Amino acid sequence: MSIENAELTDNDRNSFIYVVAALAALNGLLFGFDTGVISGAMLYIRNTFELTAVFGYSMNASLVEGIIVSGAMIGAIIGAALGGRLADRLGRRRLILVGAVVFFVGSLIMAIAPTVEILILGRIVDGIGVGFASVVGPLYISEISPPKIRGSLVSLNQLTITSGILIAYLVNFAFAAGGEWRWMLGLGMVPAAVLFVGMLFMPESPRWLYEHGRESDAREVLARTRVETRVEDELREIKETVRTESGTLRDLFEPWVRPMLIVGVGLAAFQQVTGINTVMYYAPTILESTGFADTASILATVGIGVVNVVMTVVAVLLIDRTGRRPLLLSGLAGMTVMLAVLGVAFYLPGLSGAIGWIATGSLMLYVAFFAIGLGPVFWLLISEIYPMEIRGTAMGVVTVVNWAGNLLVSLTFLRLIDVVGQTGTFWLYGALSVLALLFCYRLVPETKGRSLEAIEADLRETAFGRDAGEQPRATEVDD
Ligand code: BGC
Repeated sequence: MSIENAELTDNDRNSFIYVVAALAALNGLLFGFDTGVISGAMLYIRNTFELTAVFGYSMNASLVEGIIVSGAMIGAIIGAALGGRLADRLGRRRLILVGAVVFFVGSLIMAIAPTVEILILGRIVDGIGVGFASVVGPLYISEISPPKIRGSLVSLNQLTITSGILIAYLVNFAFAAGGEWRWMLGLGMVPAAVLFVGMLFMPESPRWLYEHGRESDAREVLARTRVETRVEDELREIKETVRTESGTLRDLFEPWVRPMLIVGVGLAAFQQVTGINTVMYYAPTILESTGFADTASILATVGIGVVNVVMTVVAVLLIDRTGRRPLLLSGLAGMTVMLAVLGVAFYLPGLSGAIGWIATGSLMLYVAFFAIGLGPVFWLLISEIYPMEIRGTAMGVVTVVNWAGNLLVSLTFLRLIDVVGQTGTFWLYGALSVLALLFCYRLVPETKGRSLEAIEADLRETAFGRDAGEQPRATEVDD
């Protein structure tokens, strides 16, 4: 550990926690960059390789492209499935280091891939790194943060996801003229290297340390990241919560955990099936279909990326003041309205002149409502609502559902437009947003300001049904 406790003042401790969270949030940057970069790179990969066969099997080009694009999501499903358990076993910090190396190697393989098969391999390896990062980023930040600012700090990870997407759009734009797709994909190595080196100097999660019998190390980390008066209180809370049994997948189905398993899985699925990634991956295609020219579509897409980042900043600033539920519910309500408007815009033939502008405006507002609610709140809540022994495993399971939903939506979107049209497609996502709203209103608890241990104690108490509308009963901490 590089900073001596004795030399720290209370203020230093507070600023150190911001350094820890900001660095760990680079996990989100890997995730976002990977999401945003492939659509741009794909345009030029087509010129380098004959996309007509993989491993000697002849296939049509769009199938090969589909495999290249979705390879990373398949990798992310594998990474998330393994990542949860690994985070519990290896520790949060060590898994972040492993994830950064895996992502780096995947990006390198893609950048130098001599054949399409090796490119696909690189996409899968890169995706495994993203899968690890998507589980362990929010998990680590949540466990190391003081309760009062946990919402903002964990949401930094969503802020870096959205920044990563925007950076990737800009990188695509910058390298487009020369068609340099190897640079586009290879640039992922930079944040991976920064994350790896930075994490070498960051402490392990105090909760994980305590659970693994390292009480004095846990105390030391708390002393570096808390005001002095909170250290012993928080350690006591952790002690009271840790039980001796080690968590397994079966513990997830214990009656007292099950309601939160339903909440996590539901949120994970709704975050994807309400359609956000159709916009992240296909915005230019959607906008071109309204009659916008290529460059206008690409510029409007960058605009959508900017809105996504800006509104996530707003969420980061608000989330510990308003709480999670108000942002989630109002965000979902706004998304529903915008999806309805989008469907109408494509439905009314009389709107042909203005349709591009109405579609762009409603897409931007839809993304804004996602960015303020379902985007950050999903990742935050799943890092808060599970008991310590199975937190990693539970987050892994839920994150697998999220990536599987992502894959499903991105594979079916274009086909859905063919079959039911644009209006039908956006109204379908709108109907699913209504269901999401009802689900969240009824089942999602408020976690604002409470320690992870208080949330867990509350969960045990209300094992058999919770009135989600109730105010938290556990005592608030005044850190
Ligand atoms: C979602 C991603 C999405 C991103 C967009 C994240 O919270 O999990 O699937 O691409 O937000 O900002």
